[in-house]
Amino acid sequence: MKHITLVTQAAVMSCTAMLLLNAPALSGQAAGAAPELKAASPGIFFPANDLMKIGVFYYPEQWPKDEWERDFKNMARFGFEFTHMAEFSWTYLEPEEGRFDFTWLDEAVDMAARAGLKVILCTPSLCPPAWMGEKYPEVYLVGSDGRRREHGIRANASISNPVYRKFTDRIVTELARHYGNDDRIWGWQIDNEPLAVADYSPSALDAFRKWLENRYKIIGNLNRAWAGSFWSTRYGSFIQVLIPNESMNSEDKLSPHALLDFQRFTADMTASFLNDQADILRKYIRPGQWITSNYINVSTSADPRRSDHLDFPSFTMYPVSGRNELGGNNFRTGIPYRIYEACDYYRPIKGITGLMELQPGQVNWGSVNPQLLPGTVHMWIMQAFGGGCSFLCTYRYRHPLRGSEMYHDGIVGTDGITLTQGGKEFVQAIREIHELKKLPGHDSSMPADFKSRRTAILWSHDVMWDLDIQKQTELWDTWRNRNNYSSAVKSTGAPLDFISENDDFRNYPFLIAPSYQMVDSSLVTRWLDYVRDGGNLVLTCRTGQKDRLGHFFEAPLAGPVRKLIGADIEFFDMLPEGSKGKVRTSNSLHEWNIWAEILSPYAGTEVLASHHDQFYAGTAAAVTRRIGKGTVTYIGIATKEGDIERELVRKVYELAKVPVEDLPKGVYHEWRNGFNVAVNYTDVPFKMPMNKGARVIIGENPVPTARALVWIDN
Ligand code: GAL
Repeated sequence: MKHITLVTQAAVMSCTAMLLLNAPALSGQAAGAAPELKAASPGIFFPANDLMKIGVFYYPEQWPKDEWERDFKNMARFGFEFTHMAEFSWTYLEPEEGRFDFTWLDEAVDMAARAGLKVILCTPSLCPPAWMGEKYPEVYLVGSDGRRREHGIRANASISNPVYRKFTDRIVTELARHYGNDDRIWGWQIDNEPLAVADYSPSALDAFRKWLENRYKIIGNLNRAWAGSFWSTRYGSFIQVLIPNESMNSEDKLSPHALLDFQRFTADMTASFLNDQADILRKYIRPGQWITSNYINVSTSADPRRSDHLDFPSFTMYPVSGRNELGGNNFRTGIPYRIYEACDYYRPIKGITGLMELQPGQVNWGSVNPQLLPGTVHMWIMQAFGGGCSFLCTYRYRHPLRGSEMYHDGIVGTDGITLTQGGKEFVQAIREIHELKKLPGHDSSMPADFKSRRTAILWSHDVMWDLDIQKQTELWDTWRNRNNYSSAVKSTGAPLDFISENDDFRNYPFLIAPSYQMVDSSLVTRWLDYVRDGGNLVLTCRTGQKDRLGHFFEAPLAGPVRKLIGADIEFFDMLPEGSKGKVRTSNSLHEWNIWAEILSPYAGTEVLASHHDQFYAGTAAAVTRRIGKGTVTYIGIATKEGDIERELVRKVYELAKVPVEDLPKGVYHEWRNGFNVAVNYTDVPFKMPMNKGARVIIGENPVPTARALVWIDN
């Protein structure tokens, strides 16, 4: 048992000051100063020959102690290689302020290790114990309605609150001291599904003002950035600045620049929260232990690139929760693009990723929670393997008998011992991955045809936020727009990486920047150089319209990119939900209603698509041109279905004479460590084209619905 002295006001102040030193400089892109304690090279954690280890969540605190040993032994017997604990257990780790109790966790770790399981430990920061709220109610987050969250749920704390941060630092320190040198502990997960929730508490307001002061230095700069000349909204000092709160000011539009800064601040606070915990862990842990956090698969508020003190980001994955994207039985096989998109998004950030939570069956929180088609869980596991995951963990081992998630499936059912359908599919996949390990060639390099179509999608959370703050049509959906492009790329069988402006574009023969609204001259110059040197660049509607503050340029629309794309953008249009416009390509007539730009191409620019109706019929909607050794294509249309996006993206590969596959939506082909993996989310079996002499290892071709095919090329 250890005691600490109470957090003093002075200590609290210095804690806040520390947080703010991590605030980013004006670009809004980076997460601040380089970490003092550097993340180790992630490659050392996961040897290529291990392929993908598979594990399972366990909450010892939720089960009678006399069942733990049986449960760990069964997990190991089923083939699981690791388990995952302590995520939400702060009240057991620190039952009273300053009194720590790790005895129960020691016992669980011991039993797990004796069963042959490695352990991922978690920091419990998502779940502050009741004593904290009783004594320090200021630790809670305040919603946009001005109401304070209270105890009785998770994710209720204000990460801007210095008292909460002090308590978090302390529990993490205690855990790190206790388990940092323990070689039974494989790695660490910080927090759970960091979400960057908007916080309107007094602590958040205080931290926001300091963040702004650090960013703008003098209030005049903030007034210029936020357009303070508009509606008399300028401030006389930072102390007057308030958090922009749309729900309190709903009758009119707030400054979009203030909203963008609040979003950036919230993401920076989340990143600093995770980075601080990583720094503490790194002080104590042995070199082999790794540090991650499990972002949700569609992370639109927290920005994993900002939390750069982690060794790598991992992600959570629940593809079936009531949506039916492809029609037919697809509500049972899952949102088809979720897994590839998460793998291709999280993996390139540090060159490695893991799937930290995979749904094993029905969940409890979807709009409806249908059964999965048999085979689906196995298919997902193989897809994550193909997508390069170094490990995969399923949420959760046991079906809860009580509590908030009691309708959630597990690997075993309500009796605690019998494998569910998902459990059986895990057992099968684990056995098969072991078989794959025995085959040679894990170090082989990517086949030439894959390499020739390597594609990157340029992505920035700042750009996404700015698009979302001023959609201009309620039909605009930034995430769907990005997804239309990633789906188009995946239809060619190209390996895809989501990258940032800090990455080297020249690693990719194809680069797509969907609706990259905020630019500066140095980015445009880099795009131009990339193309001159032989890259194929695709820019799409809304790109280049604004500067980094989110202001329009004092120039013709999209001024900075007009020369690059070889066209003027005359104006843009959007249609009401029921109305459709038409655009003609050389192959087909497409419908649109989300966004359309009207282009005037310069001499030497080729038209790929034209408007077929509306008062601007006959004008260009998409264009392409050559510069140096490469090409630039501009697609001025955004649709819900993504058909025209798909056709035009495929055209870019064709013009570059690069061989591509023709996979329907819901069929994907990955390559990893010498293995080809194909999966089929559709209702129709798909015959996967394979090279001569290819050898099927898992599954069959044609690939049936909800099945995976794994093969190697000879
Ligand atoms: C995840 C969350 C888990 C659990 C799960 C249930 O989003 O990270 O803690 O609640 O959902 O499906």
